[in-house]
Amino acid sequence: MNILVVGSGYVGLVSGTCFAELGHKVFCIDIDEKKINSLQSGKIPFYEPELADLVIKNIQSQSITFTTKLAESLNQADLVLICVGTPPKQTGQADLKYIFQAVEEIGKNLTKYTVIVTKSTVPVGTAQKIKKIISKNYNGEFDVASCPEFLREGSAVKDFMNPDRIVIGTENQRASDLSNELHEKLDCPKLETNLETAEMIKYASNAFLATKISFINEIANVCENVGADVEQVAEGMGLDTRIGKAFLRAGIGYGGSCFPKDVRALHHVAGQTGYPFQLLKAVVEVNNQQRWLFYKKIKDELKCLENKTIAVWGLSFKPDTDDVRESIAIDIIEKLVEDGANVKAYDPEAMKNTQEILGDKIQYCFTADFALENADCLVIITDWDEFKLVKFENIKSKMKTPLIIDGRNMFDGEKLSSQGIKYISVGR
Ligand code: UDX
Repeated sequence: MNILVVGSGYVGLVSGTCFAELGHKVFCIDIDEKKINSLQSGKIPFYEPELADLVIKNIQSQSITFTTKLAESLNQADLVLICVGTPPKQTGQADLKYIFQAVEEIGKNLTKYTVIVTKSTVPVGTAQKIKKIISKNYNGEFDVASCPEFLREGSAVKDFMNPDRIVIGTENQRASDLSNELHEKLDCPKLETNLETAEMIKYASNAFLATKISFINEIANVCENVGADVEQVAEGMGLDTRIGKAFLRAGIGYGGSCFPKDVRALHHVAGQTGYPFQLLKAVVEVNNQQRWLFYKKIKDELKCLENKTIAVWGLSFKPDTDDVRESIAIDIIEKLVEDGANVKAYDPEAMKNTQEILGDKIQYCFTADFALENADCLVIITDWDEFKLVKFENIKSKMKTPLIIDGRNMFDGEKLSSQGIKYISVGR
């Protein structure tokens, strides 16, 4: 099939490249000419495992083309995938201006029957609005569909190629057949729904996962008061197949470009319909509180932070990505700096993006080991695998005081204390 992907950001680039790999002919467009030029030469604008190789392979086989020219590629497309961003407004509401701009442009340039599929996360009812905008600009036949993505940063290619499910929201058989053909080579349950249900499944899924995280974080906070170990509690809960072990890792709370935005957006949508979604309100509050409870551990331990040297490991909102959007590391570091500490930070991929936000407020270190030198405390914020490889002897010999405050429960506290390192984690 011929596919036009509108928006070559995270979702668009991963989806377009993977659909090309599955044998479709893909055009990826973006309004950002600089981005398109660099994609044409195989350079991807963010870090995502496996993606760069796949982009280059599919450019070489001419399965994927990057362009800024919508009309030409739209002419050839059976389906258009809308993959532009839906950033949050201050109210928590999703800002749909990029979606509507793209759709208007599509409507003005359509020349034949095409299915317009939304992949971006959008509030329920958006597909119907898209339909209206296209109808205003185009008199011929077309359909809309909603096939939300469930890609995690850091494992997006794997998630795309091995999905748990595909949701196909349409209004008629023709759109459903074409949407099914698009996903034909992906072997997983395919759930067919109406447009509104498909849109809701995406929000509900992200909101539920965020709820699991806030739930286990509250359990962790209680564990600390009663002498229980949240890691074992999560293991014990997760063995119950009705609960499952995923997303029960306690820590400093969730960040990133999706959960914070989508949970607030669903809360906002519910409120607008007259239903106050109480549980989600609490999920957000717990998540916002969790980072400051963690911060208190640092303060309680060091007492005064003025002129203390703090090594920070991990800046991205989670491992295997360079994305620092809504990364809790940023909030924690800004507070450390405000309280007078000198921060020496290290992250395998996210230093450049962090520097764009924090500038020269902190010192950026080339290695995890280097950040430890002369530090009064090591604060772990993101659980990159490479941190597990750092030798405990290095921690002891390089730091001024062998103290680790770990927001991701990466280490075994008993092992560390037997090496003479004080270790404080979350919920145990
Ligand atoms: C998420 C969804 O998982 C994905 O399906 C959706 O399409 C986009 O949003 P992503 O934001 O890439 O993906 O990251 P995810 O792995 O879900 O983690 C989100 C945040 O939750 C991270 O900050 C992570 O550290 C945190 N998290 C996750 C926990 O604190 N505990 C957990 O048990 C799991």
